[in-house]
Amino acid sequence: MLQKYEVIIIGAGAAGLMCAAQAAQRGRQVLVLDHANKAGKKILMSGGGRCNFTNYYVEPDRYLSHNPHFCKSALSRYTQWDFIALVDKYGIPYHEKKDGQLFCDNKASDILNMLLDECEQGGARIQLKTSIDQIEAIPDGNDEGLRYQLQTSSGRLQCQSLVIATGGPSIPTLGATGFGYDIARQFNLDVFPTRAGLVPFVITDHHKGLCEALSGTSLNVAVSCNNKGFNEDLLFTHRGLSGPAILQISSYWNEGDDVEIDLLPSQNLSELLREQQHQRPKVSLKNWLAEFFTQKFAELWLQQKHPELTSATLAQLSGADMDHIAANIHQWQVKPSGTEGYRTAEVALGGVNTDLISSKSMEVKQQPGLFFIGEVLDVTGHLGGFNFQWAWASAVAAAECV
Ligand code: FDA
Repeated sequence: MLQKYEVIIIGAGAAGLMCAAQAAQRGRQVLVLDHANKAGKKILMSGGGRCNFTNYYVEPDRYLSHNPHFCKSALSRYTQWDFIALVDKYGIPYHEKKDGQLFCDNKASDILNMLLDECEQGGARIQLKTSIDQIEAIPDGNDEGLRYQLQTSSGRLQCQSLVIATGGPSIPTLGATGFGYDIARQFNLDVFPTRAGLVPFVITDHHKGLCEALSGTSLNVAVSCNNKGFNEDLLFTHRGLSGPAILQISSYWNEGDDVEIDLLPSQNLSELLREQQHQRPKVSLKNWLAEFFTQKFAELWLQQKHPELTSATLAQLSGADMDHIAANIHQWQVKPSGTEGYRTAEVALGGVNTDLISSKSMEVKQQPGLFFIGEVLDVTGHLGGFNFQWAWASAVAAAECV
């Protein structure tokens, strides 16, 4: 049997639910379809189960895109303060973890339940476990303004506005697919190649042993690659490097690139060593380094980088030794062999080219009634709540026009 809706949204994730709630509360008749057995699975998993739902300091420069201007309009019209007001309306307790990152005090399900409640208030219908087999445009629309027809596992559907909110391909076990990219290509939109972002590095060269041995050790570092830098924590893992600093820089890294890591950004080691050589000549270099790092780090670092100095005292260091030690610590060059990929990535970089999409409404310029929102678009945020803020803002922009 043919069913007709004013608005159909594909994807019951962050962007899809927000769009459904807002469009339905505007009085639109909305159906959300998802192939998963549960709505908002990534929301539930996000922020270590506490959902970093936005950030106090949302700025366009916290987003990567081939068109860095595209995100500005939507982000300025539905801001972090609007989302915080919604969270406050529901009395959801939250806190700032650091650098403006807002997390739920309790569980990420607080945010998902809020969105589901908002959908219910507007009367939006959410239909899960539904696969979409085919989408076609109805030429010139029909008398009722119906412009798209969908063949789904639950029958034939028609709608006036169709919103693609299927996200990116990271974490396929949560239902992620590249479906949105296929639909974009079907309607003659370009899709920039995608790759994993906000993802740990795999190290397989001579630094592998060091990473393995230091697995679990965390350090505050300054990391840089391709003229972009972050000052955050790094975590050694048994497969390579992770932690916020690495996740952030991974979005700027391309295969074959070196990453430079300053393991002691708050100090000038070259000057400090010279000073300490006079003040504490008998202290071993190993113990001295352990004061900044851990004993294990100091031992392994010296074995690997300066084997001739493993039992040296500060007094025994030459000027060249001190410069060499400082350079290795402040400019550690690492060449990742790859990333952990979509299996663990928080986001996908790339996606639907925004050039043919209205930055005001998220509607495809040459295809009235077809909208793309959220991560499926070529807009990728830094770590820290920026990706959800993009999902909320792009969803609201579309909801006003569907
Ligand atoms: P989202 O992925 O949320 O939703 C897409 C929906 O489409 C899913 O429900 C999926 O099942 C459905 N779908 C896909 N293909 C389909 C098909 N063929 N047919 C039907 N339905 C289909 N961001 C942030 O700001 N703060 C954070 O704390 C985190 N933490 C975090 C942790 C982890 C582990 C991950 C993987 C990601 C994050 N993120 C994050 C990123 C954030 O989750 C992500 O950017 C948003 O969920 C994107 O919202 P979307 O609605 O675009 O996609």
